[in-house]
Amino acid sequence: MQLQGKHILLGVGGGIAVYRAVELMRLLMKQGADVQVVMTKSAQEFVTPLTFEALSGNKVHTDLFDLTEQHGMGHIQLVRWADMVVVAPATANLITKIARGIAEDLLTTLLLASEVPVLVAPAMNVSMWGSAGNQANIKLLQERGFYMVEPAAGALACGEVGAGRLAEPSDIVQAVLPMLTEQSLKGRTWVINAGPTWEAWDAVRILTNRATGALGAKLADAAAIRGAKVILIAGKGTPNTRNDVQRIDVESTAEMLDVCLQYAQGADVFVGTAAVSDYRFSETKAGKLKRQGSSSIQVELVENPDIIQAVAAMDKRPHKVLAFAAESENHIQFAKDKLKRKGVDAIVANDVSNMGAKHASGYYVTANDVVELEAQDKTNFVANLIQHITT
Ligand SMILES: Cc1cc2nc3c(=O)[nH]c(=O)nc-3n(C[C@H](O)[C@H](O)[C@H](O)COP(=O)(O)O)c2cc1C
Repeated sequence: MQLQGKHILLGVGGGIAVYRAVELMRLLMKQGADVQVVMTKSAQEFVTPLTFEALSGNKVHTDLFDLTEQHGMGHIQLVRWADMVVVAPATANLITKIARGIAEDLLTTLLLASEVPVLVAPAMNVSMWGSAGNQANIKLLQERGFYMVEPAAGALACGEVGAGRLAEPSDIVQAVLPMLTEQSLKGRTWVINAGPTWEAWDAVRILTNRATGALGAKLADAAAIRGAKVILIAGKGTPNTRNDVQRIDVESTAEMLDVCLQYAQGADVFVGTAAVSDYRFSETKAGKLKRQGSSSIQVELVENPDIIQAVAAMDKRPHKVLAFAAESENHIQFAKDKLKRKGVDAIVANDVSNMGAKHASGYYVTANDVVELEAQDKTNFVANLIQHITT
């Protein structure tokens, strides 16, 4: 619920992608936003207002010259109510009017009166998109401070292939989030490692653990939404993140260490959420090992370097270094020991049962304090964690 209490005005233009605006509205509402919909006359040729009305629970606005509207939510009140406006799909026609300040129906008039950020999601035929007229309007739109989610490339509804498809509704939501979130981390660089490491025994077998990387990925997203430049050093299977998170995929602990040391230098914050293997095989066999024909075999493991300790001890160390510690007992005591031993600023001590779970909980342990982090879904958990890191 990252848009709880936010007011979003959704302007719907008359393109074939109108049906996808329904999905977008649902996703925005799922994040807690209150959505009011304004449809152009052409948009209503594709989908009736009833669909948006029934799903949003709000009256859909269609007419500039509506007497009942003027006593309720007139065009100026509508745009004053909004924290932002999203135009999706934005037709070539609408883009022209928005860019040039033409106010000839409800949507274009309220856009001209808008003092809140406007995000435009174009959708049109590939030739319309590439046309000189449209490209000039897009340029003007951006110069005038409107935000845009680029259309995607692919098969278009008209049967042609190329750029012009409405961006995925989930990507439009991702573009909305930072626009309605305080940019408290703007100008900061956060480096985060996440996921399990893989230590190869032979060409096909590995030593790994149950970590999913979900928490590190969520933390990366949350920091990026708040304006940080985020570098995510991701072990295998770490979920996808926002496009503005710079992601570097790694496999082994040694590889993760190298990349962490490279990127952590001079960063503001380093958070080690990765479940790094403490040991690796003393040698990686070439090819696939065959059965040895004996009831047991000896395998030698050697200790891996400690990534957190190395980051905390490096030249131009990040301003704050934090480590996650998954324990099955004595969480706080182990965290306090680790804090000193590793030279870090804080430890997030959590129970091993958090691994792979939907919720997370734990303790935020610093030299002077222990604060309980209550059990929450991982999105809320990382939001709370960022509060602790930044205060
Ligand atoms: C079947 C059909 C599909 C259309 N799809 C699009 C489209 O995807 N993008 C677009 O810019 N215009 C599209 N148009 C043209 C617009 O509907 C037309 O330019 C209209 O004036 C736009 O009005 P509006 O911008 O006020 O919504 C389509 C027209 C038809 C008949």
